[in-house]
Amino acid sequence: MAYDKTLGELLREQGITRRGFLKFCATTASMMALSPSMVPKIAAALENAKRPSVIWLSFQECTGCTESLTRSHSPTIEKLIFDVISLDHHHTLMAASGYGVDEALHDAMKENYGKYLLLVDGSIPVGNPAYSTISGVSNLDQLTEAAKGAAAIVSIGTCAAFGGIPHANPNPTGAVAVSDIIKDKPIINVSGCPPIPVVITGVLAQFLTFGKLPEMDELGRPKAFFGQNIHDRCYRRPFYERGQFAETFDDEGAKKGWCLFKLGCKGPVTYNACATMKWNEGTSWPVESGHGCLGCSEPNFWDMGGFYNSLSTPTIDIAKTAAAGLAAGAAVGVAAGALNRRKKNKAAREHETVTINDLEKGAKS
Ligand code: SF4
Ligand code: SF4
Ligand code: F3S
Repeated sequence: MAYDKTLGELLREQGITRRGFLKFCATTASMMALSPSMVPKIAAALENAKRPSVIWLSFQECTGCTESLTRSHSPTIEKLIFDVISLDHHHTLMAASGYGVDEALHDAMKENYGKYLLLVDGSIPVGNPAYSTISGVSNLDQLTEAAKGAAAIVSIGTCAAFGGIPHANPNPTGAVAVSDIIKDKPIINVSGCPPIPVVITGVLAQFLTFGKLPEMDELGRPKAFFGQNIHDRCYRRPFYERGQFAETFDDEGAKKGWCLFKLGCKGPVTYNACATMKWNEGTSWPVESGHGCLGCSEPNFWDMGGFYNSLSTPTIDIAKTAAAGLAAGAAVGVAAGALNRRKKNKAAREHETVTINDLEKGAKS
């Protein structure tokens, strides 16, 4: 693989005009949630950026994360990124098979030692590493080896970021996250089950442009995409504030588009960009389709006390406070606020017993 050409040169070779290039930069800025004033800086950085090698490893996963990525939508910004990033190894997407796959991996790691971006989807079984092997090599050994030469690691999906579904109670394989094993490399968690495709490509664009990972939250997620919770951006929020809740999936409230909190929506404690970026070319997202958010971008979401159980607790009981409308909003606002603070200040965690216990009790049960 030749990495001597800059991105600007590669794009020109592909017939991309200056105007097209600036459009690419503007789209990249918007993907990274940066202001339009950043476009000239992005253009200058991209013009001179060298094509980075990307190695993608899949461990205990369902291929949903890769499926999500392949559904990245037009205007082919993602395609452009993948045309200019060298995706040197990806079990599902690469053409090679058999020994050729292992050769491609080792060649890419050797040629780009210290410079490649390592993408991982899936959790790693440490209960018995033999639970998941590729070419006879355990996921644990493959990750440890590939991480050594990586400039940075991106954990794609909740499995790689936090253990995900394989980590769910009773976690029979001893599944852990990438960050539980690798401690000496920058790691960014692009969580979601699966993550939103443009969030994956947005993070890659950031690395390509600036050569470093974006600003992250306390759980190691890019703030640009995970800085706000679903609830704060949800179009059903006015119903929530008025105490108008669907009680079943086919009642009048559901037909009128009322808030899905009582049907188990975890939007108040979930940080992701679904409510603003949506899915499938901006077509819709779970809540818009009539189903509550499952909290799929959060640690332990599978054990969060049941998909259809509401977040209410003995002390914050939405069923009792719903009639009070705004009081209900305030009550759960407190719950969400408590979880916000939890993320911002771990030291305060022990004191926020009400809703945190509620969630963690569910996670352990
Ligand atoms: Fe599959 Fe979800 Fe894990 Fe991605 S995060 S591999 S979609 S289970
Ligand atoms: Fe939207 Fe769910 Fe919040 Fe209701 S609880 S406003 S449906 S995110
Ligand atoms: Fe996941 Fe909730 Fe979005 S379930 S896809 S974070 S709306």
